Amino acid sequence: GFSQRIFSGIQPSGGMTLGNYLGALKRFAEKQNEGIETIYCVVDLHAITVWQDPAKLRHQTREIAAAYLASGIDPDRSVLFNQSQVTGHAELAWILNCVARIGWMYRMTQFKDKTAGKNAENSSLGLLAYPSLMAADILLYHATQVPVGEDQKQHLELTRDIAAKFNHDYGVDFFPITEPLIEGAATRVMSLRDGTKKMSKSDPSDASRINLTDDADTIAKKIRKATSDAHPLPETVEGLKDRPEARNLVNIYAALAGVPTEAVIAEFAGAQFGTFKPKLADLAVAKLSPITAEMNRYMADPSEIDRILGKGADRADAIAAPILKKTKEIVGM
Ligand code: ADP
Ligand code: NA
Repeated sequence: GFSQRIFSGIQPSGGMTLGNYLGALKRFAEKQNEGIETIYCVVDLHAITVWQDPAKLRHQTREIAAAYLASGIDPDRSVLFNQSQVTGHAELAWILNCVARIGWMYRMTQFKDKTAGKNAENSSLGLLAYPSLMAADILLYHATQVPVGEDQKQHLELTRDIAAKFNHDYGVDFFPITEPLIEGAATRVMSLRDGTKKMSKSDPSDASRINLTDDADTIAKKIRKATSDAHPLPETVEGLKDRPEARNLVNIYAALAGVPTEAVIAEFAGAQFGTFKPKLADLAVAKLSPITAEMNRYMADPSEIDRILGKGADRADAIAAPILKKTKEIVGM
């Protein structure tokens, strides 16, 4: 069997949102604190599947690293690094490109979404192959569990398929069949303006999301203006079923407070949004302000971030190198 090891990554393709924090960063820190071996990555090779301004990419890579550190990732307890600094990711991705099938890639809903309304044939080959690089990220460390938001579920299923096909094609039991960890109240944080859309850094409306760089007043204003409905909060969680905006705000509260959704409903049953929203705003500011301040503190010293990432890359490479070597032996290299 494989010993427990957690891997996950975040793209340096723009600012971080509350969705990234609750669906990813906060849970990454919890996993680290459960004493499981944790490896976390800024995935810059993924970011360039769509064109990135080079100076901006460098800045955003440091910003994601700062967000990890500010969210409680301790570079002594977790391996924290930038993907392109460990060459094994690109090398294993090529081998896995030759295992995965083109048709599997075309079926990915993220690829379909990202090319919707555009000429898909004119997108980068990397955008299509993105999930096999993601499989390489995970399998390069023999990671057994990957905490992510719900939007990554299909890519993780593909990682399992690629691992299984490699094992089958070469008659080995070499790559683990990774388990997705999609848990908690905030696996899919929705837009504050449209309860049917995912909160995303790429949404053209800034009011749709809370950014980790927003100040307290901006956070409070965005929550006050968030789309809700005219009904009080229900007596039970089931009462949120057909109320996507209400459910989203309650889920955000639960995830920020670190309690189950049921506990939030028990506290606020019958309350109007005029009462609930200011409480949510206070909680969001209390939880996010210290993180924003820490991020700013780290960003004031970019060379310290680079030093941490460099050290992390050495540690990551030490785990990856023997696994890559063995992979090549299996393939006949
Ligand atoms: P984005 O989706 O914002 O472009 P990434 O693809 O780099 O960012 O995702 C980083 C992590 O954040 C992934 O684990 C992803 O599932 C999670 N995530 C992104 N958006 C949300 C959201 N709205 N709710 C919950 N988790 C999210
Ligand atoms: Na995503």
